[in-house]
Amino acid sequence: MNEGLSSGVGAFLHQVESRLLELSREAQRADWVYSTYISPDSESLASRANARLIGSTVELAKESTRFPGVRSSPEEKRKLALLRLALPLIAPSDPSESEELTSLVAAMQSAYSKGRHTPLGATEPVDLQALSRILRESRDPATLEDAWTGWYRVGRGIRPAFTRYVELANRGSRELGFTDTGAMWRSKYDMPPDAFSSEVERLWEQVRPLYRSLHTYVRKRLRATYGEAVVPAEGPIPAHLLGNMWAQSWNGLYPILAPPGAPSEFDLTNALVGRKTTPEEMVRYAERFFVSIGLDPLPASFWERSMLSRPRDREVVCHASAWDIDFADDIRIKMCIEITAEDFQVIHHELGHNYYQRAYARQPFLFRESAHDGFHEAVGDAVALSITPEYLTRIGLAAADDRFPDATGLLLQRALEKIAFLPFGFAVDRWRWRVFSGEIGPAEYNRTWWETVREYQGITPPGERGEAEFDPGAKYHVPSNVPYMRYFLAHILQFQFHRALVRAAGVAGPLHAASIYGSHEAGARLRTMLELGQSREWPDALEALTGERRMDASGLLEYFEPLRRWLDEQNRGERAGW
Ligand code: ASP
Ligand code: SER
Ligand code: ZN
Repeated sequence: MNEGLSSGVGAFLHQVESRLLELSREAQRADWVYSTYISPDSESLASRANARLIGSTVELAKESTRFPGVRSSPEEKRKLALLRLALPLIAPSDPSESEELTSLVAAMQSAYSKGRHTPLGATEPVDLQALSRILRESRDPATLEDAWTGWYRVGRGIRPAFTRYVELANRGSRELGFTDTGAMWRSKYDMPPDAFSSEVERLWEQVRPLYRSLHTYVRKRLRATYGEAVVPAEGPIPAHLLGNMWAQSWNGLYPILAPPGAPSEFDLTNALVGRKTTPEEMVRYAERFFVSIGLDPLPASFWERSMLSRPRDREVVCHASAWDIDFADDIRIKMCIEITAEDFQVIHHELGHNYYQRAYARQPFLFRESAHDGFHEAVGDAVALSITPEYLTRIGLAAADDRFPDATGLLLQRALEKIAFLPFGFAVDRWRWRVFSGEIGPAEYNRTWWETVREYQGITPPGERGEAEFDPGAKYHVPSNVPYMRYFLAHILQFQFHRALVRAAGVAGPLHAASIYGSHEAGARLRTMLELGQSREWPDALEALTGERRMDASGLLEYFEPLRRWLDEQNRGERAGW
């Protein structure tokens, strides 16, 4: 072992970590101000801070190639590898191109956040939240189509910036030795990028039959609601009828899809509204859950600095997110909370991020990340799978005489949220990877988007969507440069986590009825994984929680097994697929 060289790496990494920590804090603060107060000034300050962070990261990553890997410790090697992968966006080293790129992303995000449309019969333009409510609540196809089309218009203004962003982001990724930005994103999983593509393909094949059954059932029931002229017996389902702007989760449709003859049921949204629950109280429910399994209460600064409601007087980025401002204990969420069952879940999702961030805060800076990004997205969702009727009754949100759906109904609700999501979660980056690789050019963005959506989701847009539109731009993560495969992985991992946590808690019975609320054993197991951060390859982290080293959908399939059998019965005589 060559002492001199090894300590050379050590000193270099020390410098890297303190420099990037400082620049990351600066960028987080600038991004926070921008996201909670969009203005030309905050947009410019945030893009400059990000350009500085990216610039230093690239410089240091290039410098790191000085150190021949054989002479460094495994921990140092891992840090050197992670340095190149730390950011989802790498700009070209040319300073003007670098600032152009970060400005493009900020501008795309602003355009998205400012999207408005005046719904049919209304006089004032409304935002995405209000349009989403129409998608969820209206049963009038014309109203639905108008809200859908009105929102998707936002993509038009994003297209030119997106085209240039693809070019510059690729140029940056290539400077770091990746073939393109998609390949860079796929390199973050402790395996070669091609192996990762096969891995997600394998997982998709595991769950595809269940999605197809759900699709067949939903199409049949929607046909009964809207008639054969609106929902044909075969082929894809029109996107505006699924209760969600991107048809990514269909739980808004539960009232018309519920098992026939189901009694009228407990509605969490009504319960929350009935109690005049405030946004802060919504978050308190979720915090108490994490505390019940042995984690610490959130710091006072969380309550002082988080943004929990949409401010009336300015534009903000409403898309929910969790923040790690100083990589120590200044954790926050930013969310325009609505008093709904859906946001009740999303809050658990966001706090999952915050508890992860806090648990790995004692790791060296380059390890202050989740095992892989799917883990980050899965933690809060796994916890939220413990929101069962029994739990809601126990905490007093439901009364003893409230009537809940039977197992089939509960599982159908969950499936409309989680199983419906799978092909969407898979499709977004199937499309973006091909855009970054150049396989899809700007002249075919929109056609290929809908081909992808149709292939995986079995969904079709209302009406013709030409190349004047840019429909992927109507989904937050595209203008905001957030990789999306993480959500697909998380929707599988969360069931794997849930099964392990339920076992650790010693709770018996079917997975869908089990809650880990109050279990310190489950909490301790979870914490072991969270505290590892990114210090080890993700199979080690997965093993710490589940005892398993492979991502696997068998937890999900076990959870939904009773529903699968029921769907098969319902679908008898229907033609499955599209
Ligand atoms: N809940 C949002 C979503 O997953 C944002 C997040 O990831 O925290 O897109
Ligand atoms: N939060 C992610 C989204 O909004 C995944 O559910 O798409
Ligand atoms: Zn998330």
